[in-house]
Amino acid sequence: MRIVSGMRPTGRLHLGHYLGVLKNWIQLQNENDCRFFVADWHALSTSYEDKLNLRLLGRELVREWIAAGIDPDKATLFVQSAVKEHAELYVILNMITSLGDLERNPTYKDQLQQMGSKDIRTAGFLTYPVLQAADILLYNAQAVPIGEDQKPHLEITREIVRRFHHLFECEVFTEPKEMLTDTPRLPGLDGRKMSKSYGNAIYLSDTPEEVWEKLKPAKTDTQRVRRNDPGNPDVCLVFDYHKALSDNETIRQIESECRAGAIGCFDCKKLCAQSIERLLAPMRERREKLDDQTVDEIIETGNAKAKAEAAETMAKVNKAVFEISCDI
Ligand code: TRP
Ligand code: SF4
Repeated sequence: MRIVSGMRPTGRLHLGHYLGVLKNWIQLQNENDCRFFVADWHALSTSYEDKLNLRLLGRELVREWIAAGIDPDKATLFVQSAVKEHAELYVILNMITSLGDLERNPTYKDQLQQMGSKDIRTAGFLTYPVLQAADILLYNAQAVPIGEDQKPHLEITREIVRRFHHLFECEVFTEPKEMLTDTPRLPGLDGRKMSKSYGNAIYLSDTPEEVWEKLKPAKTDTQRVRRNDPGNPDVCLVFDYHKALSDNETIRQIESECRAGAIGCFDCKKLCAQSIERLLAPMRERREKLDDQTVDEIIETGNAKAKAEAAETMAKVNKAVFEISCDI
């Protein structure tokens, strides 16, 4: 299947990104024709005031993807803003997108309420799903791996496709389906959403020492006072981390030993740190080998490939829109 997905370059990646998105991408790349891109124009829609160096952040993001296990020989990796066709298609799609559909978008309404100090009452933020539609439609994606919050955007994409086909009497696009990633979100060690802004994230680039500094003070089952008090792993975040990151045998062992009061929280956390390190160590090794030039070359190659495909789609789109013709 042809698959397209994007990620915003807003900083270092943490375990939540890995478990929620990257792990899935890494599996998908083996059996599908994948395009993964740095959504840098998208990042501007909410962070235009933040003076981010999106050029550098984009390169770092691709480096992290590859370190995590994305294989540039399998998937095409590129940067959205390097392929101007995204903007070109966005302009055209904006002309036919209903303002009502955008204003009713529940994700949009939620974000407007939650953004706090950020002023995101901009045209760019409202029409963000139109840019996302362009990202997807340029490459004829059949499936788009996304989180639950992005579902309305796929709905809008499909609506735009139907509208375009009807208005210009030419079936240029493929209607994409969403591919929901059903892994439950791993919370931060303080129980809140794992996020840079809460300072509760374990980064993919953390050293074993940094991981331990975060794991050590984490709250466990607060009813457990002494080491041999029986515990309840179901109310303990460390156990959530084990379930997400440890092998089945370790998980079973911890569950029974915790309930029996046979393992202390300190030792349990040590095992958890080991499981995290087993994931991060190979990433660290790959990251060290990826110098800037190598990453830039991978991006250049991906950009060129994406550009060629996008240009082909735009030729059809422009024929349909400007010449009301479908023969190409
Ligand atoms: N909107 C997505 C997010 O915030 C990122 C994104 C942009 C995307 N364009 C896309 C995802 C196209 C899938 C397909 O997570
Ligand atoms: Fe949590 Fe492990 Fe302590 Fe049980 S032993 S309460 S799972 S940290």
